[in-house]
Amino acid sequence: MDYEIKSTALDGLRTDCLVIGIYAGRELTLAAARADELTQGLIGKLLQKLDLDKCGDLHLLLDAPGLAAERILLLGLGPRKAYGPQIYRKAVAAAVAFLRKDPSTDLALTLAAEPCEKASPRELARDAVMATEEALYRFDACKSDKTKDAPKHPLTRLQLWLPSREVEPEAQNGLAQGRAIARAMAMAKDLANLPGNICTPSYLAEQALALGQRHEAIQVEILEEAQMRELGMGALLSVARGSRQPAKLIQMTYRGGRPGQKPVVLVGKGLTFDAGGISLKPGPGMDEMKYDMSGGASVIGALQACAELALPIDVIGLVPASENLPDGDANKPGDIVTSLSGKTIEVLNTDAEGRLILCDALTYAERFEPELVIDIATLTGACVVALGHHANGLLANQQELADSLLAAGREINDRAWQLPLWEEYQKQLDSPFADMANIGGKSAGTITAACFLSRFTEKFKWAHLDIAGTAWVSGKDKAATGRPVPLLIQFLLNQAGRTE
Ligand code: BES
Ligand code: MN
Ligand code: ZN
Repeated sequence: MDYEIKSTALDGLRTDCLVIGIYAGRELTLAAARADELTQGLIGKLLQKLDLDKCGDLHLLLDAPGLAAERILLLGLGPRKAYGPQIYRKAVAAAVAFLRKDPSTDLALTLAAEPCEKASPRELARDAVMATEEALYRFDACKSDKTKDAPKHPLTRLQLWLPSREVEPEAQNGLAQGRAIARAMAMAKDLANLPGNICTPSYLAEQALALGQRHEAIQVEILEEAQMRELGMGALLSVARGSRQPAKLIQMTYRGGRPGQKPVVLVGKGLTFDAGGISLKPGPGMDEMKYDMSGGASVIGALQACAELALPIDVIGLVPASENLPDGDANKPGDIVTSLSGKTIEVLNTDAEGRLILCDALTYAERFEPELVIDIATLTGACVVALGHHANGLLANQQELADSLLAAGREINDRAWQLPLWEEYQKQLDSPFADMANIGGKSAGTITAACFLSRFTEKFKWAHLDIAGTAWVSGKDKAATGRPVPLLIQFLLNQAGRTE
């Protein structure tokens, strides 16, 4: 899909379909008023006979006089009072979803020309791309007949109409950001939607290597089990012992910063299938544990975006990848393992495996002398209970970092909500036999999981994103969401100081 900014006069705008917004109560947007003039009052007359009061209501009209466009799509925006970025995104998605089934292969969107108090031209352009790609995304990699759900006339171009040249550079910047974010999200979704028998730790490693092949600025190295053993990653390896698939520690380095600049390190949980191990999970819905590598997928996607946006910082992505299955050699409740840090862990529940693979990757991150470290993980069901499916859970050992992540999430509509990482919770991890247990009892499961990780992140600024509730939607139409790729990239853009 091509994205372009157009600031030509509305009557001369060549497109298969010109999308024009209408507020509730037949109130015209800027573009609607202009189109009404050009068509000698046709729009206004038509609206008398239509109800487009709700956001996403649509009416298609052919052969409008006075306009070069082949079709006009009138698009309801709801009440003007309520109009903002959220409605804008919803409206764009509705138009694009409709046009999937229409012969138009090119559309021109006029909504970004409408005053939108809470969003800049950059953000409107960015969000147009993101909403479009979201509406067009399909996962058919495992369907034998890929033509079945495919559009007969796929969209190939979106023109974003802006009445003035002035904001064009800003909007171009937004298009580039939107494109990179949407592509990173699609990549993360593709990886996460793949089943566990295809998307194994080795598959993730291959995809990371392929990413390194595509981008000169990204170097990829895969640590094999033998190297992990040599290093002493006893926690990570103990999880992998329950599976016949070899574990991998994926290390991706993006270099865009000045020499000597400290890197941002992203650590993503790459658990390609979580059956729970000997502490086996119940059957219903267990298939969704193929999504337990979503954090890792978001890190791989984020690195791609760094390269595509040529961010002037260094970013290292680490993805510890393993399965968690109940083999005869698997961890057993009560087993004690020694982590890379030297700290010993009593594995009271083999289903709390995410923290076991993450803790060794976090200790490993020390060697990069990071500016800061963020880990991203589908870590606890408790996070879904606490925050549902809207907010990413956030815990951090430094408030400034937490605040930056909260702000980045708000900026790009991929919000996080902070939970406390107070000292008082730490004692829930006490073990009579080892330095700590891997679970902290019934209460505050998301916090005690973060407490566990905090014992391996004392040497740097660190934040933890629990994405158990946000990485995918459950049920019949289960699907990866691509979150928190937008949050990560917005954070990195801000870090690079080049949002505008
Ligand atoms: N991958 C799961 C967390 C999870 C569960 C994410 C459901 C999304 C939906 C994780 O490995 C896990 O099993 N966590 C346990 C921890 C418990 C044993 C302390 C959980 O949340 O039940
Ligand atoms: Mn688990
Ligand atoms: Zn898990």
